[in-house]
Amino acid sequence: MRIYLIGFMGVGKSKMAKAVSAKTQLKHFDIDELVVHQRGTTITKIFEKEGEEQFRIYEREALKATFGFDNCVVSCGGGTPCFFNNIDEINRNGISVYLKLDVSILLSRLEKDKNERPLLSSLSKEDLKDFIHQISKERSEYYNKAHVTINAFNLSANALIDQLEQKGIQLR
Ligand code: S3P
Repeated sequence: MRIYLIGFMGVGKSKMAKAVSAKTQLKHFDIDELVVHQRGTTITKIFEKEGEEQFRIYEREALKATFGFDNCVVSCGGGTPCFFNNIDEINRNGISVYLKLDVSILLSRLEKDKNERPLLSSLSKEDLKDFIHQISKERSEYYNKAHVTINAFNLSANALIDQLEQKGIQLR
């Protein structure tokens, strides 16, 4: 079994995947961490030195590597399902779970930690709002292809596991 957590930056995919892994037999992989490990540098430096287009290629390679792993929960980057045919490949190779949150909540979270994210770090408060509204609209087409959509507001790992079980996806 391979579970892919997808959704916008700031929704809590990595934290959730880690917590799910701790409560199940599933191993945790994180696409950004795989890229960092593979390239030996940070995501910020890859964006700075090689650009977003190259990052998307590395990201796709990391995603493809996960298709060779079994019994795992994979936290994707916010953009992972939205480039190439990644979402279709995710859906072919695993179960995709879209963690969904209101844009207003995402915005308040991302205002606080935008500096860790190369796509956001140079934006003013006003531009950040426009950007998040715009790309969340563009990306919803891809996120909405997920097998399962879960409201991520105040979501615990146990609640996520329970909700997936109710849909017939047994994680433990
Ligand atoms: C990105 C999200 C980031 C990281 C990169 C690009 C995006 O991951 O992959 O900065 O395009 O949404 P998180 O969603 O874990 O922040």
